Amino acid sequence: MPRKKLESPAEGVSRRTFLKGAGIAAAAVGVSGVDVAGETPSSQESLIVGPGPVPFQLTINGDTRSIEVPPSTTLLDLLRDKLGMTGSKRVCDRGSCGACTVMFDGKIVDSCSILAIDAVGREITTIEGIGTPENLSALQQAFIECDALQCGFCTPAMVVSCTALLNDNAKPTRDEIRAGISGNLCRCGTYINVFEAVEKTSGQGGRDD
Ligand code: FES
Ligand code: FES
Repeated sequence: MPRKKLESPAEGVSRRTFLKGAGIAAAAVGVSGVDVAGETPSSQESLIVGPGPVPFQLTINGDTRSIEVPPSTTLLDLLRDKLGMTGSKRVCDRGSCGACTVMFDGKIVDSCSILAIDAVGREITTIEGIGTPENLSALQQAFIECDALQCGFCTPAMVVSCTALLNDNAKPTRDEIRAGISGNLCRCGTYINVFEAVEKTSGQGGRDD
């Protein structure tokens, strides 16, 4: 499953619009409360969100969570720093390594490159929603049996990507598995074992619900 690129406004934000959004949020510090010529107060209000915390709700692992953070907060920062969901890792923090992968309506995305507020109305699935130590998914069990991790730092995101792949394609070929995790970098080089873990689970599907 190719990593989802959120390019159109209807789909969310691309990295470019993400950066613009972050800039607008920062710029709002300068315009908030300023009388902008030619605009009514109501139109100004509709333009300005933040820069301080704003309330909204997100659906994460099937639960509705009430959130209040500045609009410049990334989904990764929200998950890790506000909600204590540290399974999603921050490594590059710029959409290059895949360590922060989550599912966004079932498609994999880099949570470091999405604003949390742009996840309103989406179904977000993190590694915490896939399995627990007491109730591992079949894929997680296969990771253990196939020795598909060394330091383990890339592993939660790798499991998220492979789960999304299996949800979408229950019996992926080796090339499809390779493509499915192409955005997940493993510095320990466990790729062959990851392929074997996915193939071992093939036919059982993933788990994201
Ligand atoms: S931390 Fe998000 S892609 Fe690297
Ligand atoms: S197991 Fe160490 S980075 Fe993948």
